[in-house]
Amino acid sequence: MSKKKFAKESATIMTEMVLPNDTNTLNNLMGGRLMHWMDVVAAIAAQKHSNRIVVTASADSISFKQPIALGNVVTLQSKVTRAFNSSMEVFIEVSAEDIPASKKTITHRAFFTFVAVDQNGKPIEIPEVVPETAEEIELFDGALRRRQLRLVLAKRMKPEDAMELKSIFNLDITK
Ligand SMILES: CC(C)(COP(=O)(O)OP(=O)(O)OC[C@H]1O[C@@H](n2cnc3c(N)ncnc32)[C@H](O)[C@@H]1OP(=O)(O)O)[C@@H](O)C(=O)NCCC(=O)NCCS
Repeated sequence: MSKKKFAKESATIMTEMVLPNDTNTLNNLMGGRLMHWMDVVAAIAAQKHSNRIVVTASADSISFKQPIALGNVVTLQSKVTRAFNSSMEVFIEVSAEDIPASKKTITHRAFFTFVAVDQNGKPIEIPEVVPETAEEIELFDGALRRRQLRLVLAKRMKPEDAMELKSIFNLDITK
Protein backbone atom coordinates (compact mmCIF):
# COMPACT_ATOMS: atom_id res chain seq x y z
CA MET A 1 0.00 0.00 0.00
CA SER A 2 2.01 3.00 -1.17
CA LYS A 3 -0.57 5.77 -1.48
CA LYS A 4 -2.11 7.41 1.58
CA LYS A 5 -5.29 9.45 1.90
CA PHE A 6 -6.65 11.56 4.72
CA ALA A 7 -9.73 10.20 6.53
CA LYS A 8 -11.56 13.44 5.78
CA GLU A 9 -11.29 12.81 2.03
CA SER A 10 -13.91 10.08 2.34
CA ALA A 11 -16.37 12.11 4.45
CA THR A 12 -19.90 11.82 3.08
CA ILE A 13 -23.21 13.30 4.19
CA MET A 14 -26.62 12.08 3.02
CA THR A 15 -29.97 13.60 4.01
CA GLU A 16 -33.36 11.91 3.71
CA MET A 17 -36.88 12.74 4.88
CA VAL A 18 -38.96 9.90 6.35
CA LEU A 19 -41.97 9.60 4.03
CA PRO A 20 -45.04 7.36 4.40
CA ASN A 21 -43.53 4.70 2.13
CA ASP A 22 -40.51 4.40 4.50
CA THR A 23 -42.53 3.60 7.61
CA ASN A 24 -44.05 0.69 9.50
CA THR A 25 -47.65 0.62 10.73
CA LEU A 26 -46.70 2.75 13.76
CA ASN A 27 -45.55 5.52 11.40
CA ASN A 28 -41.90 5.01 12.31
CA LEU A 29 -39.00 4.46 9.92
CA MET A 30 -38.54 0.78 8.95
CA GLY A 31 -35.21 -0.66 10.13
CA GLY A 32 -34.51 -2.12 6.70
CA ARG A 33 -34.88 1.26 5.00
CA LEU A 34 -32.43 2.81 7.48
CA MET A 35 -29.93 -0.01 6.87
CA HIS A 36 -30.24 0.56 3.12
CA TRP A 37 -29.43 4.26 3.56
CA MET A 38 -26.51 3.34 5.85
CA ASP A 39 -25.18 0.92 3.24
CA VAL A 40 -25.38 3.59 0.52
CA VAL A 41 -23.72 6.38 2.52
CA ALA A 42 -20.97 4.00 3.68
CA ALA A 43 -20.38 2.65 0.17
CA ILE A 44 -19.92 6.20 -1.14
CA ALA A 45 -17.29 6.90 1.56
CA ALA A 46 -15.52 3.63 0.69
CA GLN A 47 -15.55 4.53 -3.02
CA LYS A 48 -14.16 7.99 -2.27
CA HIS A 49 -11.30 6.46 -0.30
CA SER A 50 -10.43 3.69 -2.73
CA ASN A 51 -11.55 5.14 -6.08
CA ARG A 52 -12.73 1.60 -6.81
CA ILE A 53 -15.88 -0.47 -7.07
CA VAL A 54 -16.69 -1.59 -3.52
CA VAL A 55 -18.83 -4.37 -2.09
CA THR A 56 -20.27 -4.67 1.41
CA ALA A 57 -18.42 -7.43 3.29
CA SER A 58 -20.08 -7.00 6.69
CA ALA A 59 -22.16 -4.75 8.90
CA ASP A 60 -21.49 -4.86 12.64
CA SER A 61 -24.46 -5.28 14.95
CA ILE A 62 -26.99 -2.48 14.69
CA SER A 63 -29.53 -1.95 17.45
CA PHE A 64 -32.62 0.20 17.26
CA LYS A 65 -32.91 1.99 20.59
CA GLN A 66 -35.44 4.59 19.59
CA PRO A 67 -37.83 5.00 16.68
CA ILE A 68 -37.45 7.67 13.99
CA ALA A 69 -40.82 9.24 13.23
CA LEU A 70 -42.58 10.00 9.98
CA GLY A 71 -41.57 13.47 8.81
CA ASN A 72 -38.20 13.46 10.58
CA VAL A 73 -35.15 14.44 8.58
CA VAL A 74 -32.45 11.79 8.80
CA THR A 75 -28.81 12.76 8.31
CA LEU A 76 -26.26 10.01 7.73
CA GLN A 77 -22.56 10.83 7.96
CA SER A 78 -19.85 8.37 7.00
CA LYS A 79 -16.06 8.25 6.89
CA VAL A 80 -13.45 5.55 6.36
CA THR A 81 -11.70 4.92 9.70
CA ARG A 82 -8.93 2.59 8.54
CA ALA A 83 -7.90 0.61 5.49
CA PHE A 84 -6.22 -2.79 5.59
CA ASN A 85 -5.28 -4.60 2.35
CA SER A 86 -8.41 -4.56 0.19
CA SER A 87 -10.91 -3.93 2.98
CA MET A 88 -11.78 -0.77 4.84
CA GLU A 89 -13.90 0.00 7.89
CA VAL A 90 -16.48 2.79 7.56
CA PHE A 91 -17.99 4.61 10.53
CA ILE A 92 -21.59 5.79 10.13
CA GLU A 93 -23.42 8.19 12.42
CA VAL A 94 -27.15 8.74 12.01
CA SER A 95 -29.16 11.59 13.44
CA ALA A 96 -32.87 12.30 13.28
CA GLU A 97 -34.27 15.80 13.36
CA ASP A 98 -37.76 17.08 14.02
CA ILE A 99 -37.24 20.43 12.36
CA PRO A 100 -40.50 22.15 13.43
CA ALA A 101 -39.75 21.15 17.06
CA SER A 102 -36.02 22.07 16.70
CA LYS A 103 -35.06 18.65 18.14
CA LYS A 104 -32.09 16.69 16.82
CA THR A 105 -30.84 13.37 18.24
CA ILE A 106 -28.02 11.02 17.31
CA THR A 107 -29.87 7.73 16.89
CA HIS A 108 -27.31 5.23 15.56
CA ARG A 109 -23.60 4.63 15.23
CA ALA A 110 -22.34 1.67 13.23
CA PHE A 111 -19.37 0.17 11.43
CA PHE A 112 -19.58 -1.42 7.99
CA THR A 113 -16.72 -3.12 6.14
CA PHE A 114 -16.27 -2.74 2.40
CA VAL A 115 -13.89 -4.49 0.05
CA ALA A 116 -12.50 -2.77 -3.06
CA VAL A 117 -12.65 -5.06 -6.07
CA ASP A 118 -11.60 -5.02 -9.71
CA GLN A 119 -13.95 -5.54 -12.68
CA ASN A 120 -13.90 -9.30 -12.00
CA GLY A 121 -14.86 -8.90 -8.35
CA LYS A 122 -11.33 -9.73 -7.17
CA PRO A 123 -10.14 -7.85 -4.05
CA ILE A 124 -7.61 -5.14 -4.84
CA GLU A 125 -5.16 -3.15 -2.70
CA ILE A 126 -6.26 0.28 -1.42
CA PRO A 127 -4.54 3.37 0.07
CA GLU A 128 -3.81 3.70 3.78
CA VAL A 129 -5.89 6.08 5.89
CA VAL A 130 -4.20 9.02 7.61
CA PRO A 131 -6.30 10.12 10.62
CA GLU A 132 -5.92 13.75 11.75
CA THR A 133 -8.51 14.75 14.36
CA ALA A 134 -8.75 13.22 17.87
CA GLU A 135 -11.93 11.36 16.84
CA GLU A 136 -10.33 10.03 13.63
CA ILE A 137 -7.30 8.81 15.61
CA GLU A 138 -9.50 7.08 18.19
CA LEU A 139 -11.53 5.38 15.44
CA PHE A 140 -8.33 4.40 13.60
CA ASP A 141 -6.79 2.92 16.75
CA GLY A 142 -9.89 0.86 17.58
CA ALA A 143 -10.33 -0.43 14.03
CA LEU A 144 -7.79 -3.24 14.34
CA ARG A 145 -9.50 -4.90 17.30
CA ARG A 146 -12.94 -4.46 15.70
CA ARG A 147 -11.57 -6.10 12.52
CA GLN A 148 -10.19 -9.01 14.52
CA LEU A 149 -13.47 -9.46 16.38
CA ARG A 150 -15.57 -9.52 13.19
CA LEU A 151 -13.13 -11.85 11.42
CA VAL A 152 -13.14 -14.26 14.39
CA LEU A 153 -16.96 -14.18 14.46
CA ALA A 154 -17.05 -14.80 10.69
CA LYS A 155 -14.64 -17.73 11.21
CA ARG A 156 -12.09 -16.02 8.98
CA MET A 157 -9.51 -15.66 11.76
CA LYS A 158 -8.45 -18.08 14.45
CA PRO A 159 -9.09 -16.67 17.94
CA GLU A 160 -5.46 -17.41 18.86
CA ASP A 161 -4.30 -15.08 16.07
CA ALA A 162 -6.41 -12.14 17.31
CA MET A 163 -3.53 -10.56 19.21
CA GLU A 164 -5.09 -7.11 19.57
CA LEU A 165 -8.26 -8.58 21.10
CA LYS A 166 -6.30 -10.73 23.50
CA SER A 167 -4.25 -7.78 24.67
CA ILE A 168 -7.27 -5.57 25.49
CA PHE A 169 -9.05 -8.27 27.44
CA ASN A 170 -5.78 -9.52 28.85
CA LEU A 171 -7.04 -13.09 28.71
CA ASP A 172 -6.71 -16.19 26.65
CA ILE A 173 -9.79 -16.21 24.36
CA THR A 174 -8.83 -19.61 22.93
CA LYS A 175 -10.11 -21.31 26.09
C1 LIG B 1 -16.16 -9.56 0.25
C2 LIG B 1 -15.50 -10.48 -0.80
C3 LIG B 1 -15.02 -9.65 -1.98
C4 LIG B 1 -14.28 -11.13 -0.12
O1 LIG B 1 -13.74 -12.02 -1.09
P1 LIG B 1 -12.76 -13.22 -0.68
O2 LIG B 1 -12.52 -14.02 -1.87
O3 LIG B 1 -13.28 -13.87 0.55
O4 LIG B 1 -11.45 -12.43 -0.44
P2 LIG B 1 -10.38 -12.51 0.72
O5 LIG B 1 -10.50 -13.70 1.61
O6 LIG B 1 -9.09 -12.22 0.03
O7 LIG B 1 -10.77 -11.23 1.60
C5 LIG B 1 -10.68 -9.94 1.07
C6 LIG B 1 -10.88 -8.97 2.20
O8 LIG B 1 -12.22 -9.05 2.66
C7 LIG B 1 -12.22 -9.10 4.07
N1 LIG B 1 -13.42 -9.81 4.50
C8 LIG B 1 -13.93 -10.91 3.97
N2 LIG B 1 -15.03 -11.28 4.64
C9 LIG B 1 -15.21 -10.36 5.62
C10 LIG B 1 -16.17 -10.18 6.65
N3 LIG B 1 -17.18 -11.02 6.83
N4 LIG B 1 -16.05 -9.10 7.47
C11 LIG B 1 -15.04 -8.24 7.30
N5 LIG B 1 -14.10 -8.35 6.34
C12 LIG B 1 -14.18 -9.40 5.52
C13 LIG B 1 -10.95 -9.86 4.39
O9 LIG B 1 -10.57 -9.66 5.74
C14 LIG B 1 -9.99 -9.25 3.41
O10 LIG B 1 -9.54 -8.00 3.92
P3 LIG B 1 -8.04 -7.44 3.61
O11 LIG B 1 -7.79 -7.63 2.13
O12 LIG B 1 -8.10 -6.00 3.98
O13 LIG B 1 -7.10 -8.21 4.47
C15 LIG B 1 -16.46 -11.61 -1.28
O14 LIG B 1 -16.80 -12.42 -0.18
C16 LIG B 1 -17.72 -11.08 -1.92
O15 LIG B 1 -17.73 -10.66 -3.07
N6 LIG B 1 -18.82 -11.06 -1.14
C17 LIG B 1 -20.10 -10.56 -1.65
C18 LIG B 1 -20.16 -9.03 -1.51
C19 LIG B 1 -21.54 -8.53 -1.80
O16 LIG B 1 -22.12 -8.89 -2.81
N7 LIG B 1 -22.08 -7.71 -0.90
C20 LIG B 1 -23.41 -7.30 -0.99
C21 LIG B 1 -24.26 -8.30 -0.26
S1 LIG B 1 -25.83 -8.52 -0.98
